[in-house]
Amino acid sequence: MKIAVIGCGNMGGALVKGWCASGMAEDITITAKTQSTLDTYQELYPELNITLSNTDAVRRSHYVIIAVKPWLVNQVIGEIEADLDGKVVISVAANVRHPRVDYYAMPNIAAEFSRSMTFISHADKDKTVDDAVLQLFGTIGRVMIVPESQFTAGMMMSGCGIAYVMRMIRAMMSGGVEMGFTPSQAQEIAQQTMQGAITLLQESGLHPDVAIDKVTTPGGVTIKGLNELDHSGFNSAIIRCLKAGLK
Ligand SMILES: NC(=O)c1ccc[n+]([C@@H]2O[C@H](COP(=O)([O-])OP(=O)(O)OC[C@H]3O[C@@H](n4cnc5c(N)ncnc54)[C@H](OP(=O)(O)O)[C@@H]3O)[C@@H](O)[C@H]2O)c1
Repeated sequence: MKIAVIGCGNMGGALVKGWCASGMAEDITITAKTQSTLDTYQELYPELNITLSNTDAVRRSHYVIIAVKPWLVNQVIGEIEADLDGKVVISVAANVRHPRVDYYAMPNIAAEFSRSMTFISHADKDKTVDDAVLQLFGTIGRVMIVPESQFTAGMMMSGCGIAYVMRMIRAMMSGGVEMGFTPSQAQEIAQQTMQGAITLLQESGLHPDVAIDKVTTPGGVTIKGLNELDHSGFNSAIIRCLKAGLK
């Protein structure tokens, strides 16, 4: 499976790191605007193929991942279009359509650690997503096939969701520091608690409300904290945050 990754910044780089971690480095050719970006990746993964030429990368590959900023997508595809015959073009750029793109994918930067939540849609809504494409993104985390109409919602929950979860962790840290923990202790506690909650849901298959009941003693301190969250509009804030991107 030969892959060209056009653009190796936050997102393209996370995909490359995730794929390289699964032993795919020698099958991947990356491009960037500057040689220094390429040199950084070459140092990390000596088997990776690097080039400043987008056409060169495309000629060596069957799958072409477009991971440049949205406003550069037209320009980059224009540059490589003559070499795209028989190739599968997958764009991860947010909210940009192009007639030569076969699939739209919306991963997140946890792809670096094979923990992405990736949404995929075939550009032609009457076609199904190829197994090989599912497998490619399955290597770097979980994949969900959704209609393109759900892409922005998916992006808000997952791509942008990373930032919202970070804010939750930061808020827990602020509370922890006020109660006397050092910032690094507070970060460790918040992260481990978040990880514990996620593992609990994943392993037990419980609905969050059922898991909440397990740690909530009637008249105890957990319910006091939960009610304080409700009085402060926590639920509503999260819902409004996720829907803000749909406006
Ligand atoms: N960041 C996210 O969480 C996220 C999530 C999902 C989707 N996306 C999508 O991913 C795309 C990239 O976002 P990003 O945050 O990764 O941007 P970024 O960090 O700015 O990276 C852009 C990359 O494109 C390279 N580049 C610029 N012009 C190029 C050209 N003409 N040919 C080849 N490469 C070129 C840059 O090279 P240099 O390094 O040399 O400057 C850089 O490596 C966007 O369309 C965004 O919507 C991002």
